[in-house]
Amino acid sequence: MSLTAIQAGNVAVITGGGAGIGLAVARRLAERGMALVIVDIQDALLAEVETTLLQSGAPQVMTSATDVSDRAAVQDLKASVQSRFGRCDLLMCNAGIQSDGDIFDTNQTWSRVLGVNFGGVVNMCQIFVPPMIAAGTPGLVINTGSKQGITTPPGNPAYNISKAALRVFTEALQHHLREQNSAVSAHLLIPGFVFTGLTSRGRAEKPAGAWTPEQTADFMFDRLEQGDFYILCPDNDVTREMDEKRMIWAMGDIVENRPPLSRWHPDWANRFDAFLEG
Ligand SMILES: NC(=O)c1ccc[n+]([C@@H]2O[C@H](COP(=O)([O-])OP(=O)(O)OC[C@H]3O[C@@H](n4cnc5c(N)ncnc54)[C@H](O)[C@@H]3O)[C@@H](O)[C@H]2O)c1
Repeated sequence: MSLTAIQAGNVAVITGGGAGIGLAVARRLAERGMALVIVDIQDALLAEVETTLLQSGAPQVMTSATDVSDRAAVQDLKASVQSRFGRCDLLMCNAGIQSDGDIFDTNQTWSRVLGVNFGGVVNMCQIFVPPMIAAGTPGLVINTGSKQGITTPPGNPAYNISKAALRVFTEALQHHLREQNSAVSAHLLIPGFVFTGLTSRGRAEKPAGAWTPEQTADFMFDRLEQGDFYILCPDNDVTREMDEKRMIWAMGDIVENRPPLSRWHPDWANRFDAFLEG
């Protein structure tokens, strides 16, 4: 890893860092000697996470049970990070929740999913990134999106919309940073199927198709080193080529004037399968 923002003594703030992908990324950064701020709503995880990360090599670990959807709480978090470390070199906005609700689900489902998955990212970026830009030193912002925010499969509209919004926000953020010639760059992590608390659904063992959080973290660092904005992760079932075709097909719904989500439409599903194979 030769990214300048990632070096011993620098500081990383990771939301949803108490488990899954966020924790795997935190471990890798600890091994590089970075100080860590782990933000996770699951208070009960934090003491053990702190011990693990100190054992992995982090010189300092701060934990905070902040709810990223609470803007005032994120302001308080920023003040605490500022007073303890005085800097943030890497911000990973990764906290996320799933929803099984449908299009007519209660407002509460919609507001919670959008509030955490999208609002949380807006809160963290709007509060943490301006001082990173002002510092003038190399910095990284990594927001965890989802393929569901790109191909928007049926069944999970609130989640899909939250991740689509996050994608557009992160694209706009990176465009802004580039226009400003900032030393900070933003990146969109798009995991494949990763075996974590979010996806385990009671399963104790990783399904063969899934990646581990550690595989995802290692892939992310490799792609960051290459300078990728879109860090599109495969998994054991889905190759990059398959993802490319799925995304091209999704955009083709508009270009070809097909019904929306035609990939799952009975009149179109066979044509999609032929496109995938062809
Ligand atoms: N696992 C996958 O297959 C997969 C695929 C695509 C995208 N993602 C995204 O990856 C990110 C990480 O998920 P994961 O799979 O590691 O799941 P995970 O459940 O292991 O980790 C998510 C963490 O976010 C924390 N969190 C939830 N709401 C929060 C809030 N309001 N404030 C602060 N922390 C909060 C949780 O407590 C949890 O520790 C999520 O944004 C998720 O949508 C995961």
